[in-house]
Amino acid sequence: MSGRILLTGGAGYIGSHTAIALIEAGYDVVILDDFSNARPDVPDRLEMITGRSVPCHRCDIRDAAGVAAIFARHRFDAVVHFAAKKAVGESMERPLDYINVNCGGLLTLLGAMQRAGVFRLVFSSSATVYGLPKVLPVPEDAPLVAESTYAWTKLASEQILAQAAAADPRWAFGILRYFNPAGAHGSGLIGEDPRDIPNNLMPYLARVATGELARLEVFGDDYNTPDGTGVRDYIHVEDLAAGHRLSLDDLIATDRGHLFNLGTGKGTSVLEMLRAYSRACGRDLPYVIGPRRAGDVDIYYADPAKAERELGFRATRTPEEMCASSWAFILRRRNGS
Ligand SMILES: NC(=O)c1ccc[n+]([C@@H]2O[C@H](COP(=O)([O-])OP(=O)(O)OC[C@H]3O[C@@H](n4cnc5c(N)ncnc54)[C@H](O)[C@@H]3O)[C@@H](O)[C@H]2O)c1
Repeated sequence: MSGRILLTGGAGYIGSHTAIALIEAGYDVVILDDFSNARPDVPDRLEMITGRSVPCHRCDIRDAAGVAAIFARHRFDAVVHFAAKKAVGESMERPLDYINVNCGGLLTLLGAMQRAGVFRLVFSSSATVYGLPKVLPVPEDAPLVAESTYAWTKLASEQILAQAAAADPRWAFGILRYFNPAGAHGSGLIGEDPRDIPNNLMPYLARVATGELARLEVFGDDYNTPDGTGVRDYIHVEDLAAGHRLSLDDLIATDRGHLFNLGTGKGTSVLEMLRAYSRACGRDLPYVIGPRRAGDVDIYYADPAKAERELGFRATRTPEEMCASSWAFILRRRNGS
């Protein structure tokens, strides 16, 4: 496939891996990012990996004039919209900020796209829209419940897209509900290394492995799972990136929207992940069992059958590969390379 694709939030964790997958598939990529949660050297690293320079515009997605200027400068065939705030806990403390960036940013982007005559958009949604799922594995038509402001912004965004598509058939939206992205690029040059205390298990394990955090606190070991700890569907970020390429290929080929879960369909427990990371870094990582966290469920994994059937998507990389790639990235980062 060929075409020029705008990646909002393209310097972030999932966006940067998707940039590589798209360039390797033959697309031209342009990044818009305000770098509020991305390192400034990501565009250089993308160039090191792909051998191609990636135009990158520092811009807030809510800045209508700035976004319009980017659309005036490049002719895009489609957009992938990653730019958002994503910490569930923080979203409950600062709901208006989250609604402003996640929903306000989407509206600004849609306005700019409409004016520029660009009607294909892949949207980063999340499995959090399923709330506490009643059916396993979780299919796309499971009931939707927003248990946090973050989840609410994703649900509201999906509904904004549905309203726009109902009013104007030129829109083609690819809605992708990610399960738990983990791991890093095989080059070790890009990955997930948040500035603050990580919210997700994998970057937290990485900090325990480096010794920056003393131990992992496991939130409850009395869940109804084989080892008592919570089970989640971790998907390697390179598999997730490949899913974006397939979604874009399909939008460009058909100009028809779609909605898919992107997950593996397999669950891994917190303790299994801790052991896999211990093997990756070569020492037993310390942990302590703490109380359950409010709102956590026992088991949660995707039904990925629809994406496999309709897109040909399959996530094949294992938790071992997620931990090994994460650790390779963290080691390089700590060594300053
Ligand atoms: N990582 C996950 O666990 C996960 C799971 C499901 C869905 N998602 C969604 O996937 C998308 C990407 O997530 P990620 O994990 O790569 O996060 P990330 O924070 O690494 O990437 C988001 C990028 O958007 C940028 N950004 C934030 N606010 C912006 C603004 N106002 N204007 C311009 N750029 C802005 C950040 O600098 C960052 O580079 C988000 O929409 C997120 O909600 C993430």
